[in-house]
Amino acid sequence: MKNFEVYQQWNVEPVRGLGCNLWDKNGEEYLDLYGGHAVISIGHAHPHYVAAITQQLQHLSFYSNAVQSGLRNRLAEKLGAMSGYPHFSLFLCNSGAEANENAIKLASFHTGKKKLIAFKGAFHGRTSGVVAATDNPSIIAPYNASPNVVFLPLNDSASVEKELAGGDVAGVIIEGIQGVAGIVLPSDDFLRDLRKLCDKYGAALILDEVQSGYGRTGKFFAQVCRYRARPYYGGQRDGERLSCRRRAHCAAHKTGEGHVGYYVWRKSPGLRGRLRGAGSDGEGKFNG
Ligand SMILES: Cc1ncc(COP(=O)(O)O)c(C=O)c1O
Repeated sequence: MKNFEVYQQWNVEPVRGLGCNLWDKNGEEYLDLYGGHAVISIGHAHPHYVAAITQQLQHLSFYSNAVQSGLRNRLAEKLGAMSGYPHFSLFLCNSGAEANENAIKLASFHTGKKKLIAFKGAFHGRTSGVVAATDNPSIIAPYNASPNVVFLPLNDSASVEKELAGGDVAGVIIEGIQGVAGIVLPSDDFLRDLRKLCDKYGAALILDEVQSGYGRTGKFFAQVCRYRARPYYGGQRDGERLSCRRRAHCAAHKTGEGHVGYYVWRKSPGLRGRLRGAGSDGEGKFNG
């Protein structure tokens, strides 16, 4: 069997990393500004991470979440404190798409409604539910296209209010900073309006911080901290989702597939040309 070709393959095979440096199988060194698909944002082979994972694997690699886990509780406490959501509940899953899927599902259960507002240029993942809320018809299979999702222009509060006034909207999903669209920011006023409008019409505000969260803007969550647009639901890369039992709040984060961001710069000028050839904009930006 061969691997399914999801992306066009680059002719680079990284085999080792340390901090923000990376080495390929030929010993070539790179400065990795992409952070391993932004998953390994603490840097490659961080000694604390390596020691903790190694130690855990020597004891128990997996068990069901139907049993007690002191580790899981400690993680929830730490994330609650770091993110500024100590009173929320944490739901652990495996990917940004799953976090958003769950946020949407919760919003729909919570409100009893089925429509979702997303924004032009949005990227929320590739699985069935969230790909429908991703503004890219080329990755939406006919099976996944949903009449329940409406795409509105970013920063247009009036059009959001018009849609919410229909009374059938379960949630509004928005990225802290649109990544795949090319670093597009929702305005402060728009985010505050969304918070107020969602409260007014009984919809959940879902903040997808998959790219913009985890301190990448200097704060744990981009929109929550900058605009005080506290969310109802949301997710984070590697599957954290914070939700509050009381009001079913939430929030999300990560970065992905060479979306935006600065890809791997090799410490030799040769890669510049190759990056361009592979679809970068010539400045190292790579829009996946
Ligand atoms: C804003 C945003 N949300 C959700 C996702 C999906 O995350 P994952 O690839 O972990 O499923 C991505 C992917 O990069 C993303 O950029």
